[in-house]
Amino acid sequence: MEIGVPKETKDQEFRVGLSPSSVRVLRENGHDVFVQSEAGTGAGFTDEDYSMAGAEIVSTQDAVWNRELVVKVKEPLVSEYKFLQKGQLLFTYLHLAADRKLTEHLIDCGICAIAYETVEQPGANKLPLLTPMSIIAGRLAVQFGARFLERQQGGKGVLLGGVPGVKPGKVVILGGGVVGTEAARIAVGMGAAVQILDVSVERLSYLETLFGSRVELLYSNSAHIEAAVKEADLLIGAVLVLGRKAPILVSRELVKQMHSGSVIVDVAVDQGGCVETLHPTSHTNPVYIDEGVVHYGVPNMPGAVPWTATQALNNSTLPYVVQLANLGIKALDVNPALAKGLNVQNGRLVHPAVQEVFPDLVS
Ligand SMILES: NC(=O)c1ccc[n+]([C@@H]2O[C@H](COP(=O)([O-])OP(=O)(O)OC[C@H]3O[C@@H](n4cnc5c(N)ncnc54)[C@H](O)[C@@H]3O)[C@@H](O)[C@H]2O)c1
Repeated sequence: MEIGVPKETKDQEFRVGLSPSSVRVLRENGHDVFVQSEAGTGAGFTDEDYSMAGAEIVSTQDAVWNRELVVKVKEPLVSEYKFLQKGQLLFTYLHLAADRKLTEHLIDCGICAIAYETVEQPGANKLPLLTPMSIIAGRLAVQFGARFLERQQGGKGVLLGGVPGVKPGKVVILGGGVVGTEAARIAVGMGAAVQILDVSVERLSYLETLFGSRVELLYSNSAHIEAAVKEADLLIGAVLVLGRKAPILVSRELVKQMHSGSVIVDVAVDQGGCVETLHPTSHTNPVYIDEGVVHYGVPNMPGAVPWTATQALNNSTLPYVVQLANLGIKALDVNPALAKGLNVQNGRLVHPAVQEVFPDLVS
């Protein structure tokens, strides 16, 4: 099969769909891989690295997109819509529940779109292609939060770890899944006071085995959220209801009650965000101030660490890419986890959760 790997076009997105070592595996499986020139530069991979791995370097978007299978990182942007083709396989993050325009276009153009974030395995590691990026985003949430708490960055000037004699900063995490757990791990490591709120009692019990009494674990309801958020120096949004828009858990009224210069990092922004006052931002302009609170809402946080993120993503996506390349669309018949990733096929919206968000687009 011919596989295209475009250079990402989203603002400050330096990750790339396939690393050179992944290209080599695909070549070993007998496939032809076409990589857009400089697609991997931002992640630390040169065109020469790709050539050595057996890829053909192409210079135009047309040449890279005109392939049976396209492997990307982020959803196609409007400027890329013209390259999507009927019958083509697209394997990338899509987050359609938060993007009606793209959903409509994928339906109209007749492409077969498989979303990394809805590939779903039974068992503990349920979302194998979201997990590696969630680990990174969770860890970065505290790193960025700590930076924007600095006075010169607009924050209230709190050192998360405190110092002997001065209390540490308070980190409140809404959602104790992968993002929330990794954020807590880093916040605890920095010496912050940490609270996690989750609606899953089972998950809270697991977190207790992980953190013991070092993290305060609370059931997520409006009373607990209100009490915790008002006192937070750093609020991290990390909720997910699979395939759906994130629920709004923090109203504008509640943000008003936060201390001036506090920071909100809403990692769930890619599913619409769980804070009423938050809108998506970019790596170029990552924050804005509303109600006196610093808001960070970058939907592609792992793009900040593309060297780590590309390799982490490829470690998880490659087995699925190989299967798609070997079997084409039939890979969905033999791999139920991959089949769950199917969002749009032959002009039809097929993912149940996205169908619920856009019932009028279901045919
Ligand atoms: N911005 C980025 O760059 C980036 C990167 C990776 C992941 N994400 C996003 O981060 C979010 C979290 O991802 P994840 O991998 O941790 O998901 P996850 O499924 O592992 O965890 C989500 C958690 O939210 C909890 N939850 C659901 N409703 C809740 C509520 N009302 N109150 C409190 N908790 C609630 C669930 O019980 C679960 O434990 C997703 O929206 C994901 O797309 C964003």
